[in-house]
Amino acid sequence: MLEAKTERIKQDLEAMGKFTATPGAGMTRFSFTEEHRLTRDYIAARMKEAGLAVHEDSAGNLFGRREGAEAGAKAIMIGSHFDSVKSGGIFDGPAGVVMGLEVARILHEEGVKTRYPLEFAALIEEEGARFGGGLHGSRVMTGTVSREMLDDFKDRDGTTMAEAMSNFGLNPDDIASSVRPEGSLKAFIEMHIEQGPILENEGIELGLVKTIVGISQKEIEILGRADHAGTTPMEMRCNALTAAAKAVLFLDEAAKKAGGGTVGTVGRMEVYPGGTNIVPGRVFFTIDVRAAEMARIKQVTDAFETFLKELEKSGVEIKVTDRITVPPVDMSPEILDLFAAEAKKRGYSAKVMQSGAGHDAMIMASATAAGLLFVPSRGGRSHCPEEWTDYEEIKKGVDVVLGAVMALAEATI
Ligand code: HGY
Ligand code: MN
Ligand code: MN
Repeated sequence: MLEAKTERIKQDLEAMGKFTATPGAGMTRFSFTEEHRLTRDYIAARMKEAGLAVHEDSAGNLFGRREGAEAGAKAIMIGSHFDSVKSGGIFDGPAGVVMGLEVARILHEEGVKTRYPLEFAALIEEEGARFGGGLHGSRVMTGTVSREMLDDFKDRDGTTMAEAMSNFGLNPDDIASSVRPEGSLKAFIEMHIEQGPILENEGIELGLVKTIVGISQKEIEILGRADHAGTTPMEMRCNALTAAAKAVLFLDEAAKKAGGGTVGTVGRMEVYPGGTNIVPGRVFFTIDVRAAEMARIKQVTDAFETFLKELEKSGVEIKVTDRITVPPVDMSPEILDLFAAEAKKRGYSAKVMQSGAGHDAMIMASATAAGLLFVPSRGGRSHCPEEWTDYEEIKKGVDVVLGAVMALAEATI
């Protein structure tokens, strides 16, 4: 059986791990930045070495294509994203991109022929860490991102995604050319770190993802009134931050009440004008609500928005912007079975599980059969510099994807 080479996986991940805007404070690789460019160029070079035809689409997604024997046949796309959160780890996303590089290298070295063409993918802006929303590279491919939206997505400095794309050398007006025609894909295969504790706690080597939870992310702006902190009596204040604090606690309680593993998070908050001696006049914050059932997500977000209406009676004005709402998505049972059979053949332990993290696979599932394989996360940690997965554990995931892709693509050696 063909096997992945752990050393090459380690080399790629360590090399890409250097392209961070926050050296010494984890991985920060936002889209359309120098870190993005360095990483894209590194991946493109490895794709070329693996004999792939390299192409960057108008959104900034990078692909390495390997033709199959059957001209015009549907492609099998394999990969993950290469952007990161702020001060995250080196594995979230890139572990799946490097999986693709290693699969491509092995097929190239062994002269494996396939009936179906393969597209190894490195997708952008999955985290939404710079522009909000996220799952962007796959949403472009599945036709759910309009040109107008590129003017709507803005980073903390107010730069729109369209401006950032132009500065990076891409043409936002050409975004529609990145949409994959209906029926053009045979499958989308992703490998990702689990980002939770289950596999490690149970001593299991691989996660066969059956369902990815639904996600709703919103941006909230609370407008109060900035006042002098010393001379403004408490009963005269219109304090945006005390209103926001009540909203944060309400979200926590609403998620707990919804039960069934529902989670609610306020991960980002900015207080303006932000002076010690100024009553906060404006607060910006985000909410992220997830559950395995859409009804529970709706229960939380409906209750939250009703609560905000109550809050407005205290004199603040509140604006809510929907950033992303994706229902829970089931992965392809056929691909899950392929993973399971391959893991068994290689003597790797595996378990069927749910993903509490969102992934491009949940978007690609609207266009084709999607499969998602997990490798363990040490201590269940992710989205932090402590994020870690042993390279040997990643190697096992790559072995299984390699076998599954060869079966799906009808490979002959
Ligand atoms: O937020 C998520 O679940 C993923 O890391 N983008
Ligand atoms: Mn992530
Ligand atoms: Mn990820």
